[in-house]
Amino acid sequence: AQADDYSLMQQAADYYQQQLQQHANGPAVQQYLAKRGLSAQTISDFQLGYAPDGWDGVLQQLSNGKPRALREQLVELKLVNRNDNGREYDFFRDRLMFPIHDKRGRVIAFGGRILNDGQPKYLNSPETRLFHKGRELYGLYQVRQQPGHLKQLLVVEGYMDVVALAEHDIRFAVACLGTATTSDQMHTLFRYSPKVICCYDGDRAGRDAAWRALQNALPQLKDGVELNFVFLPDGEDPDSLVQKEGKAAFMARLEQAQPLKQYLFEHLLQEFDANTDGGKSALLVKGSELIKQIPSSFYQEILQQKLDNLLGRSSERLKPVNSRQQARPAPATI
Ligand code: CTP
Ligand code: MN
Ligand code: MN
Ligand code: MN
Ligand code: MN
Repeated sequence: AQADDYSLMQQAADYYQQQLQQHANGPAVQQYLAKRGLSAQTISDFQLGYAPDGWDGVLQQLSNGKPRALREQLVELKLVNRNDNGREYDFFRDRLMFPIHDKRGRVIAFGGRILNDGQPKYLNSPETRLFHKGRELYGLYQVRQQPGHLKQLLVVEGYMDVVALAEHDIRFAVACLGTATTSDQMHTLFRYSPKVICCYDGDRAGRDAAWRALQNALPQLKDGVELNFVFLPDGEDPDSLVQKEGKAAFMARLEQAQPLKQYLFEHLLQEFDANTDGGKSALLVKGSELIKQIPSSFYQEILQQKLDNLLGRSSERLKPVNSRQQARPAPATI
């Protein structure tokens, strides 16, 4: 990072926050936030703001009277775009702004939501020297501000999910920023809490995200950690659901989360038919491939037992190809 990178990003966040109060469009944006159920406290906890609809709001605010090099820095941090003709203009315009903090609370990027139903719905800072999308978790800084031990962490898809859950006093959610939760993110999650719950949107993209998250999590499954999955009703996301049914009902869903071992085999059995030899052999190959990525011998063993049971064989016989357990005594079957 260059000397004043973080300071510039914070100045931009402050400016967007200030515009939410002072800009002529401020009241309309505040009305939008109210319609989405967010209180002034939550808006301030997450430092939400408004990027004005002009072309050079942040550019003027941050670079006026400053040396030329500073404009270059704003372009590098992607607060400002420069087109082919060398014209510079604000990257975020007329959007609700979500600052993305690193775990220490420094602003490293922004997500900007459009205030109507135009496209793209969210515009995010591209990768910069401060921001590596697949590594950060939105809301982790706010979660870390909570006193006490982190019993569990909830992973959701979106900014609004994290913020709406916090509004309902569920303050252990982080968002993976639209990508599937990466292996890096899983590693980070388990560093802060031994129990992680994935809860993506109740749609096709959310279900795909859950399966990709499971696959990315396997290399991070050490002894002592736990990964669970919650699947939401069609058309709902954590934001819409917690607004609709409240904290207690949403917490009850988390209590009833599916453990990894259950979800993994339910998913495989949707794809492969364990009643045919073709399906069984595919199940063996795919299941073994997943299991061998797990560092925890406990998880390896319980998943291997489940796989063996599904294939209707005892663990002593056929060992899957490439099994790490080759030389060890077979675990007892349940
Ligand atoms: N996302 C993105 N770019 C988009 C759409 C989505 O980066 N064009 C990311 C955002 O982080 C977003 C998350 O994916 O929060 C989930 O997307 P989606 O479910 O479509 O949005 P919501 O978070 O539900 O936002 P809202 O409730 O405001 O519609
Ligand atoms: Mn980084
Ligand atoms: Mn979605
Ligand atoms: Mn959503
Ligand atoms: Mn939503």
